Amino acid sequence: MTVKPQTATASGPLNGDIRVPGDKSISHRALMLSAIAVGESKVEGLLEGEDVLCTAEAMRALGAEIKRDEDGVWRIWGRGVGGLVEPDNVLDMGNSGTAARLLLGLLATHPLTATMTGDESLRGRPMGRVTKPLGEMGAAFTGRSDASGQGRDLLPLTVTGTDSPLPITYRLPVASAQVKSAVLLAGLNTPGDTTVIEPAHTRDHSELMLRHFGAQVRVEETPEGRASTLTGQPELTARDIKVPADPSSAAFPLVAALLIPGSEVTLRSVGMNPHRTGLFTTLREMGANIEFANAREEGGEPVADLVVRGGPLKGVEVPAERAPSMIDEYPVLAMAAACAEGTTVMHGLEELRVKECDRLAATARGLEACGVTVEEGTDSLTVVGAGAAADYRPKGGGIVATHFDHRIAMSFLVLGLISREPVTVDDATAIDTSFPGFQRLMAGLGAQIVARNAPVSAGA
Ligand code: S3P
Repeated sequence: MTVKPQTATASGPLNGDIRVPGDKSISHRALMLSAIAVGESKVEGLLEGEDVLCTAEAMRALGAEIKRDEDGVWRIWGRGVGGLVEPDNVLDMGNSGTAARLLLGLLATHPLTATMTGDESLRGRPMGRVTKPLGEMGAAFTGRSDASGQGRDLLPLTVTGTDSPLPITYRLPVASAQVKSAVLLAGLNTPGDTTVIEPAHTRDHSELMLRHFGAQVRVEETPEGRASTLTGQPELTARDIKVPADPSSAAFPLVAALLIPGSEVTLRSVGMNPHRTGLFTTLREMGANIEFANAREEGGEPVADLVVRGGPLKGVEVPAERAPSMIDEYPVLAMAAACAEGTTVMHGLEELRVKECDRLAATARGLEACGVTVEEGTDSLTVVGAGAAADYRPKGGGIVATHFDHRIAMSFLVLGLISREPVTVDDATAIDTSFPGFQRLMAGLGAQIVARNAPVSAGA
């Protein structure tokens, strides 16, 4: 596979008014739920990144009719709950853990057999966290073992769905919206009530969208945590969906604008689901100038326009309880921390180790390569900011290994825009999985990010 290194160089103030691509979590769910609703659903603002395009392809292979109009609106003709058909080939989920896990949930209660695979990163990610509860509901799975011969829950993985599913009550052992969603989606074609209890609140896009399509989802706080109960075998009716701009993608131009003095950037229609906004809370605690304007609801999700102005930040302690609401944002927060006054400590990061790569290690190694002092704990990260003495600018100059992880690549390109020496990422190809057009959009704001012709060596 060809790699595409990119280099980011110190840039002048960023200015502009932009809309980043659609929310990845919501886009996957929009395609999956439309594919099992009766009638024609229209989706506006769908993220057309590689991950979501894989989901569209998979839903087509499972029998849904999916078309994209010239104006970018997607039309999906669904098959009804329980109506997916056996695919005649392997389903390729690309780089997306969300797509793989949610779809395993849907397929677990369809009487069919399907095999799923993905890229090298996805083939290394644990699926046992979903096959365990889905197995309790009656599905059978055969996957690949890891290098030490342990487990059988890695992709490629074959699911044989059950024709007599059992409803379960499942207590999540890890705070994971993907696992919660997989069980709830399996509950759709299951008689009776399926309940998931989560110790910490995770994003609730599945619950909101299930309701939008006509399913009954009850949510109650219990002594054990928040319990979401889906009543099985509903009639899902086609609906229109407007996908908000992805707050996890907005994070990159937003942090870049905060770090470069004199910047002013407006980000339109950013998703403000309270289970996704931990980064904004943390940045404001660090002293960031972020204004939320025009707060409104679009397609059942809260959105707002964000106005961001550059200025100095100070280090903070980020509590573990906040992790589920900003789980994908730690790499870019670490870049902000590297430019702050004082030290930032982030707790509760164990889940970062099983993302598209081990993001805790990748962030720590990349910062070290850029002259930043960090301490990597088993589930924490400490970053010492450059501070006023260094004009809030880390040294930079590193070649960073991205491990085919889109968020690692974008985070370090953001760092390069403020560092004293340019920062190079060894491969920016993964950015297309979630943020197609990233380089162009950043260039439009005034960011200097250029492609390099020859491969570079990032070391570890
Ligand atoms: C997602 C949930 C999170 C997040 C991922 C998207 C989702 O994963 O990291 O990018 O859409 O449900 P976990 O649920 O595994 O924490």
